[in-house]
Amino acid sequence: MKYSEDIEKRRTFGIISHPDAGKTTLTEKLLLFGGAIQTAGAVKNNKIKKTATSDFMEIEKQRGISVATSVMAFGYKDKQINILDTPGHKDFAEDTFRTLTAVDSVILVIDCANGVEAQTEKLMEVCRMRKTPVIIFINKMDRDGKESFDLLDELESSLKIKVRPLTWNIGMGDYFQGVYNIYDKSLNLFSANKTKIEEDVHAISDIQDKELDDIIGEEPAEELRGELEMIEGVYDEFNREDYLAGDVAPVFFGSAVNNFGVRELLDTFCEVSPAPRGRTTDVRAIEPGEERFSGFVFKIHANLDPKHRDRIAFLRVVSGRFERNKFYQHIRLEKKMKFPNPTSFMAQDKSIIEYAYPGDVIGLYDTGNFKIGDTLTEGEKMMFKGIPSFSPEIFQELENLDPMKSKQLEKGIRQLIDEGVAQLFIQQPGNRKIVGTVGQLQFEVINYRLINEYGAKCRFVAKNYFKACWITTDNEEMLDQFQKAKYNLLARDKDDNLVFLAETPFLLQMAEQDYPDLVFHKTSEFMLDQ
Ligand code: G4P
Repeated sequence: MKYSEDIEKRRTFGIISHPDAGKTTLTEKLLLFGGAIQTAGAVKNNKIKKTATSDFMEIEKQRGISVATSVMAFGYKDKQINILDTPGHKDFAEDTFRTLTAVDSVILVIDCANGVEAQTEKLMEVCRMRKTPVIIFINKMDRDGKESFDLLDELESSLKIKVRPLTWNIGMGDYFQGVYNIYDKSLNLFSANKTKIEEDVHAISDIQDKELDDIIGEEPAEELRGELEMIEGVYDEFNREDYLAGDVAPVFFGSAVNNFGVRELLDTFCEVSPAPRGRTTDVRAIEPGEERFSGFVFKIHANLDPKHRDRIAFLRVVSGRFERNKFYQHIRLEKKMKFPNPTSFMAQDKSIIEYAYPGDVIGLYDTGNFKIGDTLTEGEKMMFKGIPSFSPEIFQELENLDPMKSKQLEKGIRQLIDEGVAQLFIQQPGNRKIVGTVGQLQFEVINYRLINEYGAKCRFVAKNYFKACWITTDNEEMLDQFQKAKYNLLARDKDDNLVFLAETPFLLQMAEQDYPDLVFHKTSEFMLDQ
């Protein structure tokens, strides 16, 4: 296998959480451990503040930050780690879903007081769908939270995944003394320290040892012994294969802001997490060790300066070795392209790279050639699967307010759609544009960017749709009847697929009943299985 050493040492993972659980803080601490940054506070939070819904400058600022923190690479022990950041804000969930297609595993951060929150459930659903291995970090143990066993039960029932604690907390809040590492039988004592990495680790090979009582006190020691016994009785032994299959999530306890419990997490991550995995295409499965380069674009970022229309396309290398200035085939456009300035992302510095290997994410400057999901290869005709579109939740019709600027509006909206800011459905007659998004924030982003980057003015008119469903069938006659009956609720997506705009859950159910041979898909993932 070519480049096997380079591939084997890479670990590419996404870090996900409900906003405020501590994702940014943990990311920063991981970089600190990896030596990629020297001081805390270097990683900017890319979350859109709650008050910022109509503060466009804030959105722009956040856009800048999220380019810088989209991918952070660092070395730790013998591993080359790539962290892919995901926006926590629910309005940007689509962005997160797409980023999850580019990772090989995930670290999920949970706030010990809030437990499983709405956004976490949704994100886990996507991980489950893709069988992505997950490690869970229960954060903020320096604060009072839910009982650990209750939290584990909640994780299992809400996230529908088995869990297996690998560290265990001794007390919490004011009584938090540290964690016991079940895996390597050691005790790490807690001290609040936000800036430095200092550890107070004691090897306790036998939990019955009286030394434990001396260190943490008799009562907590007894309690810990009881809890560990319970863990062994209730949870199956940790098995890496089950974790890699996405069936079991190892759990760690800690306090990211205090650099605590992070080393255990990182060490275990390096030991158990998967090396770069292959991906499937419409033609065949591609393995990372294959000689020839292939990769796909999962994210596009527009330039913040409206005078420069260039963008950065984020490409995940799947196989072979990417080389600067070598010609590659852009499959959808059927054209050869080479890239003189591909960049890597080392913490916050962008630097030009000569080569990239499977697992790496590189930035390609783009002048409008890329769409999300595009594939580059050394010539083989294939498209990577698995960049899903989910049905939007909010629909609004786009109206042009300046007929002299129709061309700009058309171009602007197409480019924003290519970037994945929203989905576009065209309704006939009249070529009406229905824009669908997951959150209200996107409409503000679109409006702002159309004016500022394209000089086009528009207005959005709310539409009362509940879901957009992609339709497939073998029964052409039934499809024909359906199209006649529902012509005013049909549209085409950007790839010309037929979409039904259902107004209510009830009407969708009725359509499913009345037209049993039609399949109503709520994600566009089905297209990839064809
Ligand atoms: P996010 O990216 O998941 O949205 O969360 P972020 O890291 O920004 O953390 C949210 C808040 O939680 C921050 O406080 C952060 O300092 C705090 N936090 C993170 N880890 C811990 C922890 O282990 N213990 C405690 N007690 N707090 C933690 P903030 O007040 O919103 O911001 P800041 O002013 O502290 O930066």
